[in-house]
Amino acid sequence: MPKSYLSRRYKRKLSPYLKTLSDAEQDVYFSETESAVAELVSRLGKDPKEVRCIILSIGRYLYGNAGKDFYLDYQKIPLSSDITLWVLQPPGGGCIHLFETPAGKVLVDCGYGMNYADWCAALADLGLGSFADVKHLLCTHGDADHMGMAGLLPAPAYMHPTTRALLESGSRGFSAVNEYQNLNRTYTKTINTISGFVMPKEYIPADTVPKRKRGAFSVIDEISFGGLTFEVWESRGGHLAGQLFYYEPRFGLLFTSDAILNFASISMPRRVYGSIPDYLITSANINSALASEERAELFAAAKALDAELKAEGKRLRLCCGHGAASVFDGAGNLAVFDSVYHYARRNAVSAAVKRNLTKISWMIEKKLC
Ligand SMILES: [Fe+2]
Ligand SMILES: [Fe+2]
Repeated sequence: MPKSYLSRRYKRKLSPYLKTLSDAEQDVYFSETESAVAELVSRLGKDPKEVRCIILSIGRYLYGNAGKDFYLDYQKIPLSSDITLWVLQPPGGGCIHLFETPAGKVLVDCGYGMNYADWCAALADLGLGSFADVKHLLCTHGDADHMGMAGLLPAPAYMHPTTRALLESGSRGFSAVNEYQNLNRTYTKTINTISGFVMPKEYIPADTVPKRKRGAFSVIDEISFGGLTFEVWESRGGHLAGQLFYYEPRFGLLFTSDAILNFASISMPRRVYGSIPDYLITSANINSALASEERAELFAAAKALDAELKAEGKRLRLCCGHGAASVFDGAGNLAVFDSVYHYARRNAVSAAVKRNLTKISWMIEKKLC
């Protein structure tokens, strides 16, 4: 009989975070997780105790920072007399980039499904009304932290057709050559379930016929709304198959998704939480070598755009998938653009969540350094 890594007591602890699964579905999930733990132990030499702790930490972190403990760091960037961009960083996962226009809202990515009520309260508190007037939802890629709320919003989800296929496959390893496909499948189920992923009800597929080039990237589509125009750039899939970048030329905004992040602008709790995939699936990128090439190409394209914009007296602002919107400083490094403000429904990170983060950050560093 194969060794069992998940005790009944452990399953009872994890179960409250799996409430969207029926009892039978939870049994299936636990047996898949048993195999994943066994693979992490046998192939990657992980300590099963640590693996169990890290999986549990996903639920503890996300639920420990939800409801009355939800918070945001945000930038409010006026673009014109009637268009404003809000860069909203939740406690866990990707930013929501929210445009207020006279014709309604446009979102680039939309965060975890489990935080829907928290977002509604935060929007009201920040004077942004509600999600009722969201007219366009532009998704960068199929990770739960970028589009887990898609099915709860009134606008159809615009995405690369590959992203739809990835979502329907149930694995972020979809269409990638990656030696850890089983780990990726179990991790996708874990994060999608705990974070309350709600599949989009309606999809708008991007047109994928290349129209022209921006640096190394094909511009495959264009979307105009409310005084904004988004060029849609096709990634090469280093982070995830079907990833898109968006460029808004009028205001010089490049949405880099998870390909370029200003790490210095990401708080310690978010950095630790964000490193969990490194432990459980070896890397958040499905093809690490390709992801590094693509990152360099995106940097080159961004710097070329910044030089063009400078000639017009403007600057490129990089709106990253995580962390603050940034600009290039004199040395060509990313620097936070303008001020970042804090919003808390109560008050920042709870003591219990902090204790848990310290514990898992030590474990992750020990294994990776
Ligand atoms: Fe992300
Ligand atoms: Fe991602």
